Amino acid sequence: MIPKRAIYQPPFVKFLDQRLLPDKIFYVKAKNAAQTAKAIKDMVLRGAPLIGCGAAFGYAIDLRFNKPASWTKLLKQTNKAAAVLKKSRPTALALFYAVDRLHKITLDFIAKNKNKPFNKKIYAKLIKLIENDANKITKEDIDSTVVMSNYGAKLLNKNSVVITHCNAGALATMGMGTSVGVITAAHKKGKIKYAYACETRPYLQGSRLTIWELMKEKVPSALICDNMAAHIIKTSNVNAIIVGADRIAANGDTANKIGTYALAILAKYHKIPFYVAAPVPTIDLKLKTGKEIEIEERGEKEVIFIKKQRIAPKGVKVRHPAFDMTPASLITALITENGIIQPVNQKNILNNINN
Ligand code: MRU
Repeated sequence: MIPKRAIYQPPFVKFLDQRLLPDKIFYVKAKNAAQTAKAIKDMVLRGAPLIGCGAAFGYAIDLRFNKPASWTKLLKQTNKAAAVLKKSRPTALALFYAVDRLHKITLDFIAKNKNKPFNKKIYAKLIKLIENDANKITKEDIDSTVVMSNYGAKLLNKNSVVITHCNAGALATMGMGTSVGVITAAHKKGKIKYAYACETRPYLQGSRLTIWELMKEKVPSALICDNMAAHIIKTSNVNAIIVGADRIAANGDTANKIGTYALAILAKYHKIPFYVAAPVPTIDLKLKTGKEIEIEERGEKEVIFIKKQRIAPKGVKVRHPAFDMTPASLITALITENGIIQPVNQKNILNNINN
């Protein structure tokens, strides 16, 4: 079993420290929005859906931690909590979806009750509303991964040899994962001959997390370095590539972990399907195309060091885009909890969302 990724246990929310996996199971405690935001920024928790669920718990725990004495102070404090959480990482839409959803409950609650006296009882009512919805966001995430994984498994043929990238597994969600969920669901149906996990430089989500999950699920699998993908596709009968997503624009252009775009090009060249599995709160209808998606640039340390070991010369200049954008034209199908979107275009995406 994959350990629980986030545990809401007032006065703390506890996050499984994914930086230490697979060697050590350790939880980082956060008691407010700032500490939650720091945990997200520092990659204690990562993966788009999990970041959303974690931020929701962070927003809720912040309400318990800060005990405002008036409606004005409540407004100020929750505006600040929402802002600090949304600043933690820019690319995954799930973060903004979850925080905005909870903050709207607070704003509506204030608008409805601000003529009443502010006291402990009414504040407790708001906390309950927020905690209920934070739990609901998690439940929706868990349920969507199960449904999505089963839809995705249907797309895969018997004896599939697949490649996945980064970690879009249980560790990236509160449920069974998105792309890795599809692989494990297909494996349970006897459809997976072999799965390859790309190690995913620089942060190694593939080698630390995905292959660990696949091994735990007893999926026949191997770890490959990112630069082995083309050769493995050509020589090892790979017949599908499946990845997750951090944000999908209205036309289907998809931002996902750096290296995804290269895999999509390889899939096109080798005429194999390229699938993206992601829940509906990943789709950003406000953005017409992927060009508008903000790509996070992370610090140089993650490129220069592996587990505190320097692997490049001192003073080296580094670029570290953490995501890239795969154009819709390279994506065979999107898989959401509402079904399969194929071909990938705005009309089919809207139909799927309204399903
Ligand atoms: O930087 P990370 O580890 O948060 O990036 C995660 C990914 O890119 C995943 O592949 C993506 O979020 C999909 S998670 C189901």
